[in-house]
Amino acid sequence: MNDFFIADEERVIAPEYISDDNEIETSLRPHSLDEYIGQEKAKENLKIYIEAAKNRHESLDHVLLYGPPGLGKTTLAGIVANEMGVQIRVTSGPAIEKPGDLAALLTSLNDGDILFIDEIHRLSRSIEEVLYPAMEDFALDIIIGKGPSARSIRLDLKKFTLIGATTRAGQLSAPLRDRFGVILRLELYTPEELARIVKRSAGILNIEAENDGALEIASRSRGTPRIANRLLKRARDYAQVKGNGIITVESAQNALERMEIDELGLDLVDRNLLKAMIENYNGGPVGLDTIAAMIGEEAVTIEDVYEPYLMQLGFLTRTPRGRKVTPLGYRHIGYNPVENDSQGTFDSY
Ligand code: ADE
Repeated sequence: MNDFFIADEERVIAPEYISDDNEIETSLRPHSLDEYIGQEKAKENLKIYIEAAKNRHESLDHVLLYGPPGLGKTTLAGIVANEMGVQIRVTSGPAIEKPGDLAALLTSLNDGDILFIDEIHRLSRSIEEVLYPAMEDFALDIIIGKGPSARSIRLDLKKFTLIGATTRAGQLSAPLRDRFGVILRLELYTPEELARIVKRSAGILNIEAENDGALEIASRSRGTPRIANRLLKRARDYAQVKGNGIITVESAQNALERMEIDELGLDLVDRNLLKAMIENYNGGPVGLDTIAAMIGEEAVTIEDVYEPYLMQLGFLTRTPRGRKVTPLGYRHIGYNPVENDSQGTFDSY
């Protein structure tokens, strides 16, 4: 069982932030919608809403961005602030502990300014309640006093824009979700879009990357720019030490194989997840909590991080009774799916 357990807290292909990311993320971050590659639908919509708000000299409606981690929600919020020509304050759900923390942030905003709350699904109920009148009426209701003499006074706020980001729109309470005028879903990037991002980043980092080399990195980055930029840095190290400093297909392949990232971007954790489901449960259906226990990860991490990509590849499906490995998933890790047909494993195929 232990070989399914990977205690790697800083997995190279983790889409969440890891400690090495700060520098890359800030220097590589695009500053305008024109520089931002991919997410065409979200971008087109934002362009229209921004132009309309600017023409009316109004603040932008509140925006909710949702989708898997690492796709550029924070970057997009920064771009919206640049395009609107306003200031942005960045915080996150877990960082706002008391209603007073949120009140302090809200009262520091000017007309049009953006308050960006990452992981907004993790706000506590009492803080959400401060947010409702703030979003709807640009007002802060403050209770003064206690008991029968307590009364509420209303403080006016400037007309700010809230941009909320979440990996799980389904976990937002309905009253909070309903207060966003614009709801945009970010999608995993295609390898071609990621290759353009890798080429752009290579240019900024002064690394020469051949087109095929960039595409090789892109194809192994699980649809996620944050991972693509991280792998680019590792491929650069490899090209400089073992090659001629240029990222070619071969040097990129060698660098990634060393990190045990396969040609589709799966790492040991992904492969062990599929393997554990096949070997212990005949490919499923297996409940999320069981999978989590088998590979030593939290259920939410599996849902947010591993599953979206394995499902996009068509290696995993969700059924009402749990998760199932598909024939494609079997083949990818070297198992023969036919053997399992008789047990009804693939009754949906
Ligand atoms: N760097 C990270 N994400 C990016 C994107 N979507 N476009 C351009 N550069 C990026």
